[in-house]
Amino acid sequence: MSLSSRRTFLTGAAALSGTALFPRFTLADTALPILRARLSTAQLAPIGYPATPVWAYATEGAGVIPGPEIRVMAGERIRRQLVNDLPQPTATHWHGIRVENAMDGAAPLTQPPVPPGESFDYDFAAPDPGTYWYHSHDRGFEQVARGLAGPLIVEDREPWLGEPGAATRELTLVLDDWLLDADAAIVEDRWDDLHAAAHGGRMGNTVTVNGAAYPDLDMRPGERVRLRLINTATARIMPLALPGLLPRLIALDGHPVPPREVDTMLLGPAQRADVVIDMPLDPEVRTVLLLDPGNGEWVDVAAFVAAGEPLAPIEVELRPLPAWGTLPAPNLADPQHEVLLMEGGAMRGMLDIRYQGEVMDFRELASNGMVWAFNGVAHGMNEPMFRAALGRTVHLEMTNRSMFPHAIHLHGHHFEILARSGALNTPGDVRDTVMIGADETLEIAFVADNPGRWMLHCHMLSHQAAGMMGWFEVA
Ligand code: C2O
Ligand code: CU
Repeated sequence: MSLSSRRTFLTGAAALSGTALFPRFTLADTALPILRARLSTAQLAPIGYPATPVWAYATEGAGVIPGPEIRVMAGERIRRQLVNDLPQPTATHWHGIRVENAMDGAAPLTQPPVPPGESFDYDFAAPDPGTYWYHSHDRGFEQVARGLAGPLIVEDREPWLGEPGAATRELTLVLDDWLLDADAAIVEDRWDDLHAAAHGGRMGNTVTVNGAAYPDLDMRPGERVRLRLINTATARIMPLALPGLLPRLIALDGHPVPPREVDTMLLGPAQRADVVIDMPLDPEVRTVLLLDPGNGEWVDVAAFVAAGEPLAPIEVELRPLPAWGTLPAPNLADPQHEVLLMEGGAMRGMLDIRYQGEVMDFRELASNGMVWAFNGVAHGMNEPMFRAALGRTVHLEMTNRSMFPHAIHLHGHHFEILARSGALNTPGDVRDTVMIGADETLEIAFVADNPGRWMLHCHMLSHQAAGMMGWFEVA
């Protein structure tokens, strides 16, 4: 068919179907699976309490907590039309996925927020296997706290489940933390509570596992299970333990680690851990997921209940996850050196910080809702923290000069932990979100191989809103 006759054909077809105003791609776009952000309710508090009004993601029908699981094979595309049925603008970020910049959902840096009643088409490849999540990235301190978060699983490139020494089943556990009142409603009058923002953030009082308080999870005796643990809380750091289950860590933030036995795990906001457990053969042995709410008193947040026929225990040594094979190794011989200094918060404060181009004292900053800074700048969105040439290795030295831990997240990249002064991290681990304790210094490195403007912020979302926010540019 010649070019001119094809054009004639298209014009004719469009005219016939009455869609002359809409180019063909609009028709294709409407075929994207829907991810709707909407008002809903969920039974978050234990039975006997009322259901909680939430903001939640839905495929069709009611929104669910956590949001509907998105699952693809490594390398496949994730395609979703976000439809905003909320009373506020919103955007969806695919946390940890090395997406192309325009699909990152980091409003307002990579896209304008989607107004109520409108939609945005996300269509991108998910290159790396692992445990991820998606969440609102506009007014996250409110929208994520109201429920806009869900699991995103990218399956292994080579078979792992069911192979010798591997788990036979996997189970995703989305851990969240809610600030509820006596009627189980979300406390709504403190979104910009500066006191909380200057401390550990807006801490909740109800921890849920897959959207339920203290659920019972059916497990077969003797079964080896891969748990995909995701902390979607906006502020709570979760120390976790799985006593009697021989937990072995196999991945952090989606990236495999050589299997290692762990007594306890520390999951900061937005962090993930994949852990293999072996259920006891004796169905009478009670096993639970324990969480330390911050006072050293471990509490059960979920129980594993023996159900079904016992499985013969797997004696073979635990099989590591297949390597990603997709992440370039940092070139540490000649990196670009950058620093990230974290300052502010209660009990330390900060001096002479720039906010929107003006130097301010602590009081003036606080009257603008700012109590934190990166490199002397609060909420530095006007210009990048640094620029890196495409393909260059960036060595970033991060120092926390505040009295509070932070969970620092880089968009669009995963980074290797090189050295640390504290006890929280193991050098060699590859992550997208890293915890850094009070007065600690941590060195990381990554290849800036993803072009665009990428946010870098604390994932304690009230810290992010109160100044711990910036971006870097790769070009
Ligand atoms: Cu999990 Cu900037 O995001
Ligand atoms: Cu923080």
